[in-house]
This record gives sequence, C-alpha cells and structure tokens, in this order.
Amino acid sequence: MLLMTLRTLSVRALSGPAGNRTLTTQPITQHPESHKPQDPPAYNGQSYEEVVKLRKQYLTPNVTSYYKKPLLIHKGSGAQLFDQEKSYLDMFGGIVTVSVGHCHPKVNAALEEQLRTLWHTTNIYMHPKLHEYAEKLVAKLPGELKNVYFVNSGSEANDLAMMIARLYTGNQDIISFRNAYHGASPYTMGLTAHSTWRYPLAGVNNGIHHAMNPDPYTGIWGGKHCRDSPVQTTRSCDCQEGQCKATDMYYEQLEQIFKYSLPRGKVAGMFAESIQGVGGSVQYTKGYIKRAAELVRANGGLFIADEVQSGFGRTGEHYWGFEGHDIVPDIVTMAKGIGNGFPLGAVVTSRKVAEVLSQALHFNTFGGNPLACAVGIAVLDVIDEEELQKNSLEVGTYFLKGLERLRDKHDVIGDVRGKGLMIGVELVADKETRQHLSAPHFVDIWEMCKDMGVLFGRGGLNANVLRVKPPMCINRTDADYALAVIDYCCDQYMKKRKRGSRR
Ligand SMILES: Cc1ncc(COP(=O)(O)O)c(C=O)c1O
Repeated sequence: MLLMTLRTLSVRALSGPAGNRTLTTQPITQHPESHKPQDPPAYNGQSYEEVVKLRKQYLTPNVTSYYKKPLLIHKGSGAQLFDQEKSYLDMFGGIVTVSVGHCHPKVNAALEEQLRTLWHTTNIYMHPKLHEYAEKLVAKLPGELKNVYFVNSGSEANDLAMMIARLYTGNQDIISFRNAYHGASPYTMGLTAHSTWRYPLAGVNNGIHHAMNPDPYTGIWGGKHCRDSPVQTTRSCDCQEGQCKATDMYYEQLEQIFKYSLPRGKVAGMFAESIQGVGGSVQYTKGYIKRAAELVRANGGLFIADEVQSGFGRTGEHYWGFEGHDIVPDIVTMAKGIGNGFPLGAVVTSRKVAEVLSQALHFNTFGGNPLACAVGIAVLDVIDEEELQKNSLEVGTYFLKGLERLRDKHDVIGDVRGKGLMIGVELVADKETRQHLSAPHFVDIWEMCKDMGVLFGRGGLNANVLRVKPPMCINRTDADYALAVIDYCCDQYMKKRKRGSRR
C-alpha cells in the first residue's frame, strides 16, 4: 500500500526546477535488463520458514542479517532484487559489489562460455584468460602500476599488500585511519579501526597505528570547503576555497605518529580507502592524502590505495578513487566491483615492488581462475561500453543534489557526502551538535525504506549512515524514486518523533 502511494508521488520538491514530474518508474537506462518494478518471478525453492530454520541451525551465529525480518532474495536483474512478495530497487549492490548490474547479460554470457571451456587449472599451467585479463586490467592503471597478482577477496588483497610493504621496505609499522575498514582477516583486522569489527586477539595491532581520521563532518576540524564533493558540510569556517585549515590540523596529527610512535624515519606503509566505505562514505579533507603519501614516502614507506569499494568508475570523475586525490599509489588493492559478485580480487604494483614476492614461494589455489578472469574481462568491457563511469557521475551528482535538498528540509539528515555513486547520508538526533541518531531510530527509517521497496546499506561507527552505492547502471528515475522514499520516510519519522515528544 505504501509502495503504491509512493509510486504516484509528485517529486517536484526534490527534482529542482525541471522536476515537476510524476514518478513513472520507467527506466531510461541502456541496460537491456531494465529494473522497473515488476511482479516477482515464481519461486519454487525452500520456504521462508525453512531457510530461517536452516540458517539458525547450520550457519555460524556471527552470520548477520539486515532487517528485523530478513529478506529472502531469490533473483536479481539490473538494479532490482526480488523476494517472494515484491521487487526492490537495490541501492547497495550486494555491499558495493554488483558494479554493472545483477546478472548482466554480457557478464553472464562470458561466464557461461568459460564454464563450457575450462574451469580451473591453477596458475601452474598457463591459460589464456589470465593473461588477457592481466593486460586489460593494468591498462586501466597509471605509471609503473603494471604487475598484478590475483586473489579472491578484499581481505586477501590487503593481507598481501601489507606483506609486500613490509618485505619491500624492511620496516614493520603500518598506518591506517581510524574509522577505516580494510578487511576481517586476522592480519587486516588490525588495519580496520572500528571496535565493532575486532576480536580480542593478541597481535592484531602488531605494528599498526591508527591516524586521526580527517573527517570534515564528525571530526574535530572541518568547514564548508573541505570536501571533494558536490555537497559540503553545513559547518562554518573562514577558510578560502582550496585553503582548508582543517587539512593542516589533521596532517599535524599524522606527523605526531611519526614523531612519537614510529622508529625514526621508518614506516612500511600507509593504507587508505579513497573514500571510506564501511565507515559511512567518509571523505577526507582536500589535499590531505597527497601530503600524507609524500610524508610516508619520505620515511621509506609505500602508499597503498584500497580501491575495493571506490574503484572501477564508481566515484564518477575518475576510474580510480585515488585519482581524485591527485596521487599515484605504490600499491592498489581491489575486489568487490571488480567481479560484479564473482569472488575476485587483485593487488597491482610496480615490477620493482613485486620482485620482493620472489623471496619465497607464494601461492593461492584460486587466484586468476579462468572463470573469474572471464568475468573480470566482461566487467571491464561493460563499464566502458555502457559508459558506467559517466553514468555514475551524472546520476550520482543528480542524486547528491537531491539529497542536499532533503538535508536542508529534514532535521534528521545531518550530512550528505560522496562522489558519483558512492554516497553517504548521515542521520542525526541533533543537527547542531551532529549527535548521531541512535540505532532504534535509524532502523525505523531504514526499515520503512525497505518496506517501500528501496534497499540501502548501513554504515559508520554508530551505524547511523545510509549507504547509497547501487549498481552503476541506475538512472535518474531510480534516483528520483529513492529520493522520494527517503523524503517520505524522514517525514514520517519526524512526525512520529514530534508526536512522541508531546507525550
Ligand atoms: C574498503 C574495503 N577493503 C577491504 C574489504 C574486505 O573485502 P572482503 O570482504 O572481500 O574480504 C572491504 C569489505 O567490505 C572493504 O570495504
């Protein structure tokens, strides 16, 4: 019922001057498998109750589910997901992983062709897809970044990058940011800096230091020109455009780590997501990353860009998020969107750095598997052929501008940030103090969005950020629809809150 109401909602208020239109939900995407809301296809699998029972009984208890009544998704197409009852607009893409669209026909065809030809050999034999893919992937990277090692996940990629940095430099210490997420393996758990993701294990922090996060919204310093985004914070400052004092302050904090915590002049490396993903789409103050990379190199270290979420055109302006910081890293790690949902990851570096791996035998069974490589090649092709980077920029900027209007309208939206289709919407209890919205209140809004047919991710240390990172094939109609849903849900929530406060 709610869904029907929304589908005929006028979005004049959201779309700006040209926006006096009614939601049609008709897609304008070039993607052949369009994602207009449809009736769900027939499902003949296990019942919902059976799946819930099996999940409880046989999966380890740490396997979490989104939503009070978790969804049982049995089909995906373009930017749509289906359960037994209805279709959903997927604004989270399987955690920023479905880059070109669910079951994209070209990627499906590449995988089908490969599975009829050759599944697996390991790299002890040569097979053509691995080499074709390696050449194609590194062609997307600048400078000396021309050697690749394939892995199966982002954690594995970052594990390897940590090891390479330590071997290459002969140094042990590594820096990452507070609020970072770089994986959940015992090695990368140390880089990840949220207490929620940490087990109490000895050695996790071995040689790892967490720098103050240069976050212009929740951080202690920040103003209204700090971010490389179409939307700035509502904080005030007297900095001129391009002269962000917050960057200087945060950079001094980084220098303190070198002064107080590291052996003099010695660091193995620094990891940074180009935009923090799990941390809530947080962008750093402008210019910080470039200066940090210079400082790290001046102390003998390597700069490692974690592009697991921000790579492959998602940020719109660039193919890689690090380009937005005007740097060329020493190592780039990637996963998630690289395979559109197929388990695949990669570490790319220069020949000079990669040589250190020859000091011992290093092997994994599945990295560079023919099936994964066939998928990886098709994904690169689709991003180019369907101009998905350009689409991320256009639709993402349009979406961000719409969200900015919603932020100005609703007290519960404290911040809107991001680039392209890597967007965060931070929900707050108090706009002035930027106090985060507590979990039950956030869940009210987030569940309501789901009930209206739009799936968002959830992130940030306080789990109060709506994460908007859909397949890159979404169009403006989808964006309008998602904006209208957020608008409606925030409105309903605020009405409820006002009723509550009168009691
Ligand atoms: C930026 C970043 N790096 C690394 C990882 C770890 O990737 P995986 O879950 O594939 O191990 C993630 C996962 O969310 C991530 O967001």
